[in-house]
Amino acid sequence: MTVQIAPSLLAADFARLAEESESVASAADWLHVDVMDGHFVPNLTIGLPVVEALLRHARLPIDCHLMIEEPERWAPSYAEAGARNVTIHAEAARAPIRTLRQIRAAGARAGLAFNPSTAVEPYADLLSEIDMLLMMTIEPGFGGQRFMDFVLPKIRRARTLVAANGGEIWIQVDGGVTEETIGRCAEAGADMFVAGSAVFGSGDPAGRVKALRAAATGPGPGDQPPAAASAG
Ligand code: DX5
Ligand code: ZN
Repeated sequence: MTVQIAPSLLAADFARLAEESESVASAADWLHVDVMDGHFVPNLTIGLPVVEALLRHARLPIDCHLMIEEPERWAPSYAEAGARNVTIHAEAARAPIRTLRQIRAAGARAGLAFNPSTAVEPYADLLSEIDMLLMMTIEPGFGGQRFMDFVLPKIRRARTLVAANGGEIWIQVDGGVTEETIGRCAEAGADMFVAGSAVFGSGDPAGRVKALRAAATGPGPGDQPPAAASAG
């Protein structure tokens, strides 16, 4: 499974989004942009005009996580603007199939997100319409929260459903992803990792991305500790 890292700009300096994006451009795979409407979640961030501006500057593809009511109204516009991945929330979508199809028709990958308490099984028959499942490992709305380990079995079940479906569907985790928690997510079957404070809360965002990727991949052959010298 290929590991992909998507730093979340929610933890970046909003007045310097272009520079912050550039700081991870050589190390990361995507830029994760959290769109919040103050209704679906109790926080308000950025919307389409800022994403359009970012698209003019960012070298990495943009992954839009829409934490908004009425995603059917707004999601296609993010895809049309050039976001390469657009994710809507299962809890907010009134017409998920139509909206996912519109996202794909506009040329983006279509994602479906699940809050920690939302089951993935009711969506098993929709997997052919989906390119990515986003598993929230916090309640959405704010960065810097503590990772919820109890979501790990759901990630495992999602990976089993995806394997049975046969298509290439990525499983993204978002919330509390750090060098300490990312290995558990990867082991459960996630392959795309969003990290906000773990990346932009440090003085070395690119270095943190590399460390996250290494922690998700696990120790490689060259990283094994040398065999203990035999006694005697
Ligand atoms: C929160 C957002 C996340 C947020 C994660 O609702 O969806 O993308 O940036 O932040 P950390 O990595 O700090 O938990
Ligand atoms: Zn997010």
